Amino acid sequence: MAITNQKSAIDVMEERHSVRKYKQYEMPQADLDAILQATITAPSSWNLQHWKFLVVQSETQKQKLLPIGYNQQQIVDSSVTIAILGDLEANLNAEKVYGEVVNKGFMPPAVKDTLIGQINAAYTSNQLARDEAVMNSSLAAMQLMLAAKDKDYDSVPMGGFDRSAFIKEFNVPKRYIPVMLISIGKAAVEAHGTLRLPLDEVVTYETF
Ligand SMILES: Cc1cc2nc3c(=O)[nH]c(=O)nc-3n(C[C@H](O)[C@H](O)[C@H](O)COP(=O)(O)O)c2cc1C
Repeated sequence: MAITNQKSAIDVMEERHSVRKYKQYEMPQADLDAILQATITAPSSWNLQHWKFLVVQSETQKQKLLPIGYNQQQIVDSSVTIAILGDLEANLNAEKVYGEVVNKGFMPPAVKDTLIGQINAAYTSNQLARDEAVMNSSLAAMQLMLAAKDKDYDSVPMGGFDRSAFIKEFNVPKRYIPVMLISIGKAAVEAHGTLRLPLDEVVTYETF
């Protein structure tokens, strides 16, 4: 009889902690694919899928990333570090996304054209493009960490890295904004404990 994964989504959320010490472990491509495949089920504004993932796993590239990530050791010790990039020109995905929806008969072509017009109009604002890129790719980032945990990997998100140096060293096209790095691998040492503020401090009902 097949052994089924009994973990609930909430179990996975509760088990995820930021791990900073990793064992040497080469992640099978099938695991990486499964994690990334789950990641891209994230929701996004207009379904524009404002994300791009740069996977750093070779020794050479890890060594280049290390100083850019302010020498955070997990970059070299973990199996892979994935840079989450936000797409500043996600409006350019609209034609592909909605073209397919029209082809499948889910949307009339005129509706698609109106929608794409609205999206392109919104994207005349650089502030909107940036906010959308960061907001939507961050949702994917969270899914990545939870998917990794579900597949028995640990992870740590990192906002502490030199974005300009990263863009230069990894030839990041102007279209993308680096949002965070996420190291993933097999834990050598458990995450240190963290606490959360109590619900009544972070939740307010109806209005302030
Ligand atoms: C956007 C973001 C940036 C972070 N940057 C770093 C970082 O640069 N280095 C690091 O070691 N941890 C970093 N963390 C991890 C946090 O310290 C950690 O999530 C927090 O202390 C809660 O602990 P937990 O993830 O184990 O629940 C970051 C977390 C987030 C969400």
